[in-house]
Amino acid sequence: MSAILPPNALLDVPSTPAGLLSNQEKDRLIERAFLGLYRWYTARSQETRNWNADLSFDWKALRHDLPKEIMTTLTGFFAVEQYAPDYTAELVNLVRRSHGRSHFQLRWGSEEEKHADSWENAVLFSRQRSPQWLAEYKERLRAQQWHLPFPDAIHNLVYTVFQERATQLNYLNLMKLTTGKSDKVANAVDPVLAKVAQTIAVDEAAHYNFFLECTRLYLYYYPQRTLEAIRSVIGQFSMPASHLIPDWDEFATTVYKAGIYGPRDFNRDVMQVAFRNLGIESRKKLEEGIKAGREVPNFDGDAKVPTIIWDTFDYGSIEGDVKRLHVKIQDYEKGVGFDAIDPFEFVENPEAPKGNNAHTAAPAAD
Ligand SMILES: [Fe+2]
Ligand SMILES: [Fe+2]
Repeated sequence: MSAILPPNALLDVPSTPAGLLSNQEKDRLIERAFLGLYRWYTARSQETRNWNADLSFDWKALRHDLPKEIMTTLTGFFAVEQYAPDYTAELVNLVRRSHGRSHFQLRWGSEEEKHADSWENAVLFSRQRSPQWLAEYKERLRAQQWHLPFPDAIHNLVYTVFQERATQLNYLNLMKLTTGKSDKVANAVDPVLAKVAQTIAVDEAAHYNFFLECTRLYLYYYPQRTLEAIRSVIGQFSMPASHLIPDWDEFATTVYKAGIYGPRDFNRDVMQVAFRNLGIESRKKLEEGIKAGREVPNFDGDAKVPTIIWDTFDYGSIEGDVKRLHVKIQDYEKGVGFDAIDPFEFVENPEAPKGNNAHTAAPAAD
């Protein structure tokens, strides 16, 4: 058929099957949602989480006799958050063409910077480390540079979902120890530390949610590549900067024994929680779905993916989540007045199956 068309008409043949969204259109929809989400996030951050690392806590009341395990934990937390400028610089650079993502990363960086300063204050006011010790430790940390764990934006986005949830869990479990709700470390109660851990954990939950919403958008519009990114990220997950921090093994052993964080916590309270939020039943189901998808031949050898991929996750719940996100952004933008100038609308992915029968879906152009 193409052989009898004049050459100029060949150029007009769309590469996307009729009725489906082109990748360019999907990218435009995702970017518009990122922008709305970032604006909503910033307003909420300023309204509800506008705390200060020095002034929001009664540092002078911090105990001077905190147990060794708590000191090792605080120092480790300080070290991980100390790389905030590297995390921010690398991520901003990676997503610099996206207004929503890059501006969000700046805001995110300003929140991570507060975490680093808070943990530094905690170490300093414990009176168990001298300012000189801290300055030298910081110099050692900063002599090394953190780099992105993955080369592309989607893998790094998925990585941050798991990383933010893991960080939140670390702080929540420190809060349990410092409020006396866990007795895995004796004599660990300290109200100042408990408030710090709780305050930062709330930020980490907000970060987790932002990255989760972004991942859901990708999962909805690009299911195949997002599921593959999730699978590859969980296959090699480690905490950020763990390879750069001196005495990481001592820190990891301490938080494990203290019931703050370990492999079981990752499986149960990080991976399974994130999976549930992403409509994925289990790691096994994810592996099987991707494998099955690969075994079904593609239509004509191009980038189209088989419909079976929609069975790998609960696309119905993800579509519901994406729609809810749109309503949240629409409400926010209506309040500002953006709706009258640049209305934000949900656009269905026509590849997604209709109703309950996943196999009636149109072929995906993922
Ligand atoms: Fe943080
Ligand atoms: Fe965070």
